[in-house]
Amino acid sequence: MGFRFDLFIVLIAVLSVPVLSDLILSKVDRRIDLTSQVVRITSTLKVENSGNDPVSEVLLAFPEHQEKNLAYLTASFREGKGKGKGSTSSLPVEVVHPQGMPPALVFYSVSLPKGLGKGESLTLDVLVVFTHSLKPFPKEITQADFQLVVFQDSGHYLSPYEVKFQSLSVKLPDARIESYTRLENTKTVGSEIKYGPYENHPPFSYSPIVVHFEQNQPFAVAQQLVREIEISHWGNVQVTEHYKLIHAGAQSKGEFSRLDYQARPHVRGASAFRHLVAKLPPRAHSVYFRDEIGNISTSHLWGDLKKTELEIEPRYPMFGGWKTSFFIGYGLPLQDFLFESGGKRFLNITFGCPMNEVVIDNLIVKVVLPEGSRDISVSAPFAVKQWQETKLSHLDVVGRPVVVLEKTNVVPEHDQHFQVYYKFNNISLLREPLMLISGFFFLFVTCIVYMHVDMSISKSSASYVMKLLWEEASRILCPI
Ligand SMILES: *[C@@H]1O[C@H](CO)[C@@H](O)[C@H](O)[C@H]1NC(C)=O
Ligand SMILES: *[C@@H]1O[C@H](CO)[C@@H](O)[C@H](O)[C@H]1NC(C)=O
Repeated sequence: MGFRFDLFIVLIAVLSVPVLSDLILSKVDRRIDLTSQVVRITSTLKVENSGNDPVSEVLLAFPEHQEKNLAYLTASFREGKGKGKGSTSSLPVEVVHPQGMPPALVFYSVSLPKGLGKGESLTLDVLVVFTHSLKPFPKEITQADFQLVVFQDSGHYLSPYEVKFQSLSVKLPDARIESYTRLENTKTVGSEIKYGPYENHPPFSYSPIVVHFEQNQPFAVAQQLVREIEISHWGNVQVTEHYKLIHAGAQSKGEFSRLDYQARPHVRGASAFRHLVAKLPPRAHSVYFRDEIGNISTSHLWGDLKKTELEIEPRYPMFGGWKTSFFIGYGLPLQDFLFESGGKRFLNITFGCPMNEVVIDNLIVKVVLPEGSRDISVSAPFAVKQWQETKLSHLDVVGRPVVVLEKTNVVPEHDQHFQVYYKFNNISLLREPLMLISGFFFLFVTCIVYMHVDMSISKSSASYVMKLLWEEASRILCPI
């Protein structure tokens, strides 16, 4: 074969690994979803304690090269028995560095709600989302080519625990599979590749698999997205979003023919994207979409009680490696997003991008609060970098406090609500009208002063007019 996959670390360093705990995984079901540019792996782990001491954490292991693209991880615990029954509650997860582990691995620890006693078992559902994990191969394609990508993982579940029984399924978009690694018990069913079942694998078992397949979903990546959310207590929340977008799929090579594209867009530009749909909150108003050149009129807007949808169409179709930059803006009714609790006001709004399946490398969310806000605090459902700035706009005296939140590697799963709490004195609300009133007052006084000056000038002119009138009158009354 004319290409080489960088076949990283082959772990299987079973020899010198200390016994971590007496946990075993009696059953592991993994499902890898490769139907979009974002890789989603859902695992159901049945964890059993085969020792005597209660255990309160379960470790998840990832190879370093994979973990660096990890965008989102949740673990939840199913109460009650049976599939889909009972309620689930999500568990705290943190990165840990246990001693004596094989190199090039990153560990996450899931804290269990209560110690798992001798012989007890429970079921964990783990969702892990990775970005930039589908590598275009070949790296460059022409307008007429389909896009092929490569995905690598392990056919056996990589875990610090012994795995008794496991299976894996890899779901591909409904399209061509170039090639895939065959282990024992491998088969394809429609657009799915199934591995297993496998029995009795020791801790840290790892067997690389590579899947090479056609993937023409839009690889829309916002290298940077800046969202500015400005609160006005006069009834509006103004949102402005500035996108720097790239098609992060296979690079486009050769000449681009718009004619070819327009005639047969699904063949001559299969991996290109033309539209993106932004799902805005219901009752969004004054929606616009523009780029550096100006307003783009080829956007469509429709909505109902639950949502407003804006279909945006950049000025040209996006091929691999092509970039575009644009703004969307909209206003929202204040009462849908601003609330009060315990003497504080708080904004409750979504964090991420309103466009499904756009990956954001670097997201900056700025919340501009009204001038005079104080005791500001933020509550976010995941870790974000944060700091404060000041924004000075018309009629501001000291400027508006701005809370800035920054997060890298953002996926649609991050589009959750966050809150900004602050205190605000209603007197401050009168600041602007008072300034306007005092402004007018000042203007008025200036006018009077000016008029006064003018009057003294006009005194002479008035007397002049009087003199003319007198002369005229006397000419009429006493003609000589
Ligand atoms: C662009 O559209 C917005 C909203 O419809 C409008 O307020 C603005 O004046 C337009 N700008 C230009 C340059 O047409
Ligand atoms: C924020 O809004 C969401 C959706 O309306 C709601 O589920 C959530 O409870 C709200 N959070 C707070 C703190 O009010």
